[in-house]
Amino acid sequence: MSKTLQAIRGMNDILPEEISYWQHIEGIIRQVISRYGYQEIRFPIVEPTELFVRSIGAVTDIVEKEMYTFLDRNQDSLTLRPEGTAGCVRACIEHSLLHHQTQRLWYLGPMFRHERPQKGRYRQFYQLGVEALGFSGPDLDIEIIALAARLFKTLGLEKQVILELNSLGTPATRLRHREALMAHFEKAGEVHKNPLRILDSKDPALQKIKEEAPRLSLYWDETSRIHFETVCAALETLQIPYVVNPWLVRGLDYYYHTVFEWTTQTLGAQGTVLAGGRYDGLVEHLGGRSTPAVGFAIGLERLVELFKLQKTNTKLPDEVDACLILLDTTAQKVGIRVAEKLRTLLPNLRLVTQCGEGGVKSQFKQASQSGAAWAIILGESELAQNVFTLKNLKQKTEQRGLTEAALIHALNS
Ligand code: HAM
Repeated sequence: MSKTLQAIRGMNDILPEEISYWQHIEGIIRQVISRYGYQEIRFPIVEPTELFVRSIGAVTDIVEKEMYTFLDRNQDSLTLRPEGTAGCVRACIEHSLLHHQTQRLWYLGPMFRHERPQKGRYRQFYQLGVEALGFSGPDLDIEIIALAARLFKTLGLEKQVILELNSLGTPATRLRHREALMAHFEKAGEVHKNPLRILDSKDPALQKIKEEAPRLSLYWDETSRIHFETVCAALETLQIPYVVNPWLVRGLDYYYHTVFEWTTQTLGAQGTVLAGGRYDGLVEHLGGRSTPAVGFAIGLERLVELFKLQKTNTKLPDEVDACLILLDTTAQKVGIRVAEKLRTLLPNLRLVTQCGEGGVKSQFKQASQSGAAWAIILGESELAQNVFTLKNLKQKTEQRGLTEAALIHALNS
């Protein structure tokens, strides 16, 4: 026997049993997002490597250590997307979507990072991203944070997460802060090409010099300060709880002004469920016309896990409405034909039938396990009289001798 093959470490199968949670959550997210007028965009999973180096930044963990990069048959360097913002912005520029217009966009799909796998951290993971392009000023930061807050609330998770907020100021702020940080870390004997990464670090050995490091807010200019204060004031008005985290710097280089993360204590080490911020420089940096922008992405594995932990008793909608039970070989011969006819007559009915052999007992067992409310029962005697038996599996009641019209009526009511 040949060796069975397994999935790549850190890349997960999502099995049917699990997928109902995903569909439920994705459905709610889509609904909330559409209430804010965001439209879906799809872009490729593979992009030129240079796109990610230029947008995420050459001296970041993602670009230095985590990208799945390879040469294709034309010797072009390609990369599996580690995140969605870069591809989304590339697509907007390429298709002139930002020419005298604003865009509110969202996307959902797999992202790839060669990180050390652990619970909540995978090499293929799903992000649902939201990006608003062409809006300057704090209004859109506020809208997008309110959208995220509404998502958690609609999912019933608002008590499990907290919004952490900071401002990175402008590139000038960051430059001056960077110099001050370099001097601080050098004094402490810690040298790093990108000192912000030390601030981002959770390494306990670095916590003390991190605590003592000069804070970014010392270097904000007036515009950055007002921008940040406006966002904070609006969150208070909207009664969205938050904490200011002066060490929140994010692991990607494209951010300006507001940055935020929604974190939870419930998931252990990988507690950031949603993260984002403003990235006013990125469109121009990638060759487009200067366009302000703000967005975030949700890590869906983490959100699903959080939902499952909190909602162990949530009854997800059933996948099936009715099962067609075929009592004998005469009924089995016409089973598929009858099922097709019922599907034509009842377009909203989710109907499952036994194909091939199957005892009556096992058919009933499967029907009750499927969560279906109805069993439509067909045997030789029903066929002879051109009628159906309908059983309500939840209430354990049975109606015999239903004509086709009566069956349709019963199932529609
Ligand atoms: P990010 O912080 O790199 O930001 O990722 C966003 C979220 O994706 C994280 O908070 C986490 O929930 C999830 N995530 C990241 N890496 C993994 C992993 N290895 N396994 C499981 N989940 C993971 C971005 O990607 C930005 N593009 C967000 C953004 C959009 N900023 C502006 N617009």
